[in-house]
Amino acid sequence: MKNFKSIKRVLEEVRQDSKSRFKQTREYIQHGNTSVMKHCIAVAYVSVMIANKLHIRVDKKSLIRGALLHDYFLYDWHEKGAGHQLHGFKHPYFALRNANRDFKLSDIEQNVILRHMFPLTPIPPKCREAWIVCMADKYCSTKETMYTVKKYANNAFHFVFG
Ligand SMILES: [Fe+2]
Ligand SMILES: [Fe+2]
Repeated sequence: MKNFKSIKRVLEEVRQDSKSRFKQTREYIQHGNTSVMKHCIAVAYVSVMIANKLHIRVDKKSLIRGALLHDYFLYDWHEKGAGHQLHGFKHPYFALRNANRDFKLSDIEQNVILRHMFPLTPIPPKCREAWIVCMADKYCSTKETMYTVKKYANNAFHFVFG
């Protein structure tokens, strides 16, 4: 409950910050039918859970802010022909550029955003918070994709067998 409250408090700060475009992330789909906003909140939640369960000492505020902003790339990556090729490789850089424009980020927050796609992008995270978000992101992405695959499989089943 305490964790949930701290995520909510940091989330409100990020949403209300004077230059924040965080609300836009609700309009873009990340995986399946999960919006980028929902995905980022889930990653923040799982990150805090990992830190707690494994008793890892972290800067909790930076962990949460980094997780909330790790996919702050602000475009629909499913849109074809809009210059979003190699999204998987490039989006951490776009997210960091946008986040640096709109927020005052700590070194930890910057590393969380920039390195969350390791090992797809080859340079590893350099702090505990970035490692945790990197793992939480993979966990959430897999869950979100699996949910969609399951839904499609169910629909296909019903389509074929009625
Ligand atoms: Fe990402
Ligand atoms: Fe992500």
